[in-house]
Amino acid sequence: MFETLQAAKADAILGLIAEHRDDPRPEKIDLGVGVYRTADGVTPVLDVVKKAEKILLDTQVSKAYIGTAGAADFNASMQALIFGDDAPGDRLTTIQSPGGSGSLRVAASLILRAAPDTTVWASEPTWANHIPLLGGAGLKLQPYPYYDTDRHVIKIDEMLSALRSAAAGDIVLLHACCHNPSGLDPSVDEWAAIADVAVERGLVPFIDMAYQGFAKNLDDDAFAIRHMAARVPEMIVSGSCSKNFGLYRDRVGSLSILSANREQRDIVNSQVNNVVRTIYSVPPDHGAAVVSLILNDSALREAWLVELAGMRERIQEMRTLLSNALAEKASGHDFSHLQRAAGMFCFLGISADQVARLKKDYGVYMVDSSRINVAGITRENVDYLADAIVATLPAG
Ligand code: LMR
Repeated sequence: MFETLQAAKADAILGLIAEHRDDPRPEKIDLGVGVYRTADGVTPVLDVVKKAEKILLDTQVSKAYIGTAGAADFNASMQALIFGDDAPGDRLTTIQSPGGSGSLRVAASLILRAAPDTTVWASEPTWANHIPLLGGAGLKLQPYPYYDTDRHVIKIDEMLSALRSAAAGDIVLLHACCHNPSGLDPSVDEWAAIADVAVERGLVPFIDMAYQGFAKNLDDDAFAIRHMAARVPEMIVSGSCSKNFGLYRDRVGSLSILSANREQRDIVNSQVNNVVRTIYSVPPDHGAAVVSLILNDSALREAWLVELAGMRERIQEMRTLLSNALAEKASGHDFSHLQRAAGMFCFLGISADQVARLKKDYGVYMVDSSRINVAGITRENVDYLADAIVATLPAG
């Protein structure tokens, strides 16, 4: 049976982890996969997570299955974190999911059950796994313009006009903050204009929030979700605790679905739990239990906020360092757009050939699109990095 198979292509992002690991050059730099790194290049377990894990170890009394929806206390905490104090609780259902990807996958199955012919509109570009994940589940996808590769701005007018051409009931996939890969997020006014089109056209927002707390703060980063929730009858939100709690491999996420009324919410809730049972049965517990402990204990929560701010500030500082180094070294080339981005990512704006040269000649790893993970920059490697980038630029 397997003789018919061809080898699958290495994943554009995850493939870089192994390539970088196997590179013997000590000066190599990993700007590939989106994980936070400290000034020492380490992706740490947060101190607050270690504390919560100790508590869990001492107090956990059972490893019996949790239900398809996961833990009620985690779900309530995530709902409050994402939707804020004014969460429309009587229309919302939230379940625990295996990371943000698990959440997206369950949402895809739910959409296919409810509206199999609907089109999901995704930003061009979007996270490299959005299209394979949602398309692989069976959804029809269509791109909307988002990133202007020449001017390094959001093509807001083109985006709005593409969405105006969508059919009623179509779904629009949006990044709540720290757009992956561009790092460019709509302004408050632009979000309002996107919500206007969603309301006018009867579109269902499907918002992926993988980086809450990495752009400005927990509340501002959730603005798009809260604004939409106040305006549209139905929406879908995938949440992730991979980055803001550093729980990548523990797979912690949530799926929230806003329905038009309480009756529909209850039906959606039964369907979504049924979907879970047909895919992975019940979600993993450990990471979600850690998150719930942190969010429901004021001292732990406070400690988490401090660590989260520390990650956000280091990323911003490294972005500024690289931007300044390039401004100094790359005369005739404009990299000022780096400073407009939020979160871990931005595009350098160089060609795939230049990206390949950076890897081959300098051991600098990034996604072919020239998306860089700014958290891979340190005070020690920034000059080497800027020099390597400059060496691949055409004469300015
Ligand atoms: C990324 O975009 O690098 C991260 O979200 C990790 C992943 O799974 O792709």
